[in-house]
Amino acid sequence: MSSGEGEETLSDDRDSLIDNTPEFSRMVERAISRRRFVVNSGIASLGAFFASAPALSSLATAAQQLTPAGDSPSAKMGFEAVAASTADRVMVPKGYQANILLSWGDPLFEEAPQFDPSGAAPASAQQLQFGDNNDGMSLFSLGEDRALLVVNHEYTNYKFLFDHQGAMMIADDVKKAQAAHGVSVLEIIYHQGRWQVDSNSQYSRRITANTPMEITGPVAGHPLLMTGADPGGRQVLGTLNNCANGQTPWGTYLTCEENFNVYFYSTEKVSLSEDQLRYGIGTRDAGYQWYLFDERFDISRHPQESHRFGWVVEIDPTDPEAVPKKRTALGRFKHENAALTVNDDRHVVVYLGDDQGGEHIYKFISRDPLDPNDSTNNLDLLEEGSLYVARFDAEPGELQGRGEWLELSHGKNGLTPQNGFADQAEILTFARRAATQVGATTMDRPEWVAVHPSGKTVFCTLTNNKHRGQKENQPVGGANPRAKNRYGQIIRWQPDGGDHTATTFAWDLYLLAGNPLVHQDSLYAGSSNINADNMFNSPDGLGFDRDGRLWIMTDGKTSNKGQFAGMGNNQMLCSDPDTGEVRRFLTGPVGCEITGIAFSPDYQTMFVGVQHPGVDDKSSHFPAGGNSVPRSSVVVITRNDGGVIGA
Ligand code: FEO
Ligand code: CA
Ligand code: CA
Repeated sequence: MSSGEGEETLSDDRDSLIDNTPEFSRMVERAISRRRFVVNSGIASLGAFFASAPALSSLATAAQQLTPAGDSPSAKMGFEAVAASTADRVMVPKGYQANILLSWGDPLFEEAPQFDPSGAAPASAQQLQFGDNNDGMSLFSLGEDRALLVVNHEYTNYKFLFDHQGAMMIADDVKKAQAAHGVSVLEIIYHQGRWQVDSNSQYSRRITANTPMEITGPVAGHPLLMTGADPGGRQVLGTLNNCANGQTPWGTYLTCEENFNVYFYSTEKVSLSEDQLRYGIGTRDAGYQWYLFDERFDISRHPQESHRFGWVVEIDPTDPEAVPKKRTALGRFKHENAALTVNDDRHVVVYLGDDQGGEHIYKFISRDPLDPNDSTNNLDLLEEGSLYVARFDAEPGELQGRGEWLELSHGKNGLTPQNGFADQAEILTFARRAATQVGATTMDRPEWVAVHPSGKTVFCTLTNNKHRGQKENQPVGGANPRAKNRYGQIIRWQPDGGDHTATTFAWDLYLLAGNPLVHQDSLYAGSSNINADNMFNSPDGLGFDRDGRLWIMTDGKTSNKGQFAGMGNNQMLCSDPDTGEVRRFLTGPVGCEITGIAFSPDYQTMFVGVQHPGVDDKSSHFPAGGNSVPRSSVVVITRNDGGVIGA
């Protein structure tokens, strides 16, 4: 498959990997049959929990009883817990290894220059190198010893990107910053006992803030998306603030645009609309200075350009020429990740979080069902469908309850012209306003969503929310039970009848993060599965492996003092939903967050993202040590005995 093999064309390769091959059909079949196989045990264990959960008046007692006591150790988790750490390195359990796959600035192409730590390298170098601040990622197998790894680059840090640290910006610096964003597609090969990057791969690709993309779905071509440069409202340059991700059974990658607002500003006085304010457009100069050199980011000149960001983008990683597609049917907000599952009726359901205090959890249901026999029929499944937003109901004092998905379709649930919604495009572009109109629950910053391999239970991290109880629209209670929530929680729900297209569901809090050493007998101590040995704050990244181990990544406070004493650096934990046990698996270097997870097909290698080591003036020299510049990196975790990670 390497480009050294001669005359194969890209489209030929694409055919051999994706279109109609027995291999791909088997992949889809395996995915679907696996869901059906495990489904019964998943329902049984959750059903047992819901049945046994008592009605309690004391919330603290309720938190202690959220999960089973965990007296017997989990059969799923076979590793020794890692202690909290403030070391400037990655710590893994005894018998495990952590090695660097690649770091920000590493060359992705044969002609790419090596990383220059001085910050003086031009945009043309960054364009050919691994981007900054790697975040969500997915692995696409090309066989036993080859795979594509597709990785998001959420943002960039001028302190390390430029020798002038952003103080003397020129036009090429803006281009360099834009090239540090987006997505990398790289091929990895298993060679001489380890996974390595093939910088000679024909699949290598950098997608940046300047890559041409197509806008698809209900908002494409709508006046809200028209700009001077694109009067048709169907073409846009680039993707921004690519936080986490999703992966489809038809072999494409989903990248989610999160804090896209921070790139838009103006030196002119602009009167901001309610919708702009709700999305944080133009409210502050975040320091990127793009609007000074690239006029589409100047909101006084191009007020609609920001409507073209905040979407989920679908990328075909097997074709470097494929135009990425923004999927407007999935709504516009600060997307965290896109957790896709195939319902029993083969409709594709995508769960989505909007990461801001007081925003919401959404789901998308495809209009058409998945075709298990011909994957080419699935390539545009995300183009049309229905968007819903969640309301979580609870009796006073309960940390569980019922919920309803509220449809965000024009003419329904008060989404009418009389209430300010002219058409479906306006609902999708200003999904936050529509969610408020229909009465969605304001949440504590929804981050990643993950669907249990049983296919029936869905988990979502609510990372923290300092505004809870401080703002009128964010009352304390139910799914968001703590004022000034500094620790975060994980919510889970089970659709009625195991049907992801159902509009009703049951929910509970899987865990409340907390600090049992600082707080006793209050919700801030955390749920019963949190103790002095596994405590953490701000759960963010979330993912399941095929055996149903839940992997939790944190992006929280790392002071290790006061409210956060004993928690150390950001980390990754493993949890067994059958018992509720939580065990610390990995700790990251100073100032980093842990975000991004992917597995090799045999689950004997885990790829983990270390993002922004040394941020906030914390001194880090990860990964090279000495006096080196800290660099976000993808870390490869393996077991010395070659076993399955976590088992
Ligand atoms: Fe990119 Fe909400 O974290
Ligand atoms: Ca995140
Ligand atoms: Ca984050």
